[in-house]
Amino acid sequence: MATHHRDIITRCAAGAPSRNALWSAFVREAGIRSVAEVGVWKGHFAEHLLRECPDVSRYVMIDPWRHLADWEKPYNVSDVAFEDVYAEAMSRTDFAASRREVLRETTREAAARLDDGSLDFVYVDGDHTLRGITIDLVSTFAKVKPGGFLGGDDFTRSVWQHDERYEPTMVCPLAVYFAEAVNCPIYALPHQQFLIVNDPAAGFDFIRLAPGYETVSLRRQFAAGTVLKRAIGSRFPALAGLWSRLKSK
Ligand SMILES: C[S@@+](CC[C@H](N)C(=O)[O-])C[C@H]1O[C@@H](n2cnc3c(N)ncnc32)[C@H](O)[C@@H]1O
Repeated sequence: MATHHRDIITRCAAGAPSRNALWSAFVREAGIRSVAEVGVWKGHFAEHLLRECPDVSRYVMIDPWRHLADWEKPYNVSDVAFEDVYAEAMSRTDFAASRREVLRETTREAAARLDDGSLDFVYVDGDHTLRGITIDLVSTFAKVKPGGFLGGDDFTRSVWQHDERYEPTMVCPLAVYFAEAVNCPIYALPHQQFLIVNDPAAGFDFIRLAPGYETVSLRRQFAAGTVLKRAIGSRFPALAGLWSRLKSK
């Protein structure tokens, strides 16, 4: 990987007070012109990048904005609620309508419309289940130009991001294994972000610019004791609260 990318990423990661600030600084400093965001919701992130990065001339917004039968996550609201979410995403980004491309469909459907190697930066923040992140990484990586970037949100240290009603969040470790499979460097960044550089010549490397990613093994997270503690905690929250108070004494 060109060393200057590493310098830019390291600098942006070190100084970023928030996720939004991290990515807008990175997009500006890396000279990114074309972006696709997978999973747009109400358009807060899209609005931020479009406002803060005037050199971005193409911003592809990919989201079905509809209830999905097979997506067990808290953002999966009703079709009626999604209409309002969609309207908000549009009104937030209307000021940049000429730079915006809206694909109201799932990643897999949208990917078929995008040319391979056509984007400087893809940001995935859609379905974070094992199925979803697999589809997102596999179907968007080919769209990234050589030397371009594939980043994303919810690179959580624990797969148990939500309570028991929901599927685990598998962005971490899957993004790391995906980067290894395509033999490219991947960064763990602050604010639970990751970034893969499409640079197979550099080879796979897991560069940790945020603490807590020393091991990405699932074994401990699925250990019987951990799973039992979670189950008890979600059924008997008062007991869980008492347990953590006792532990902190
Ligand atoms: C966490 S929200 C995105 C938040 C947004 N990126 C932001 O930072 O403001 C997740 C979004 O992913 C979308 N989504 C879920 N499954 C998807 C899929 N298969 N393809 C594309 N988008 C999907 C949902 O409709 C929802 O709007």
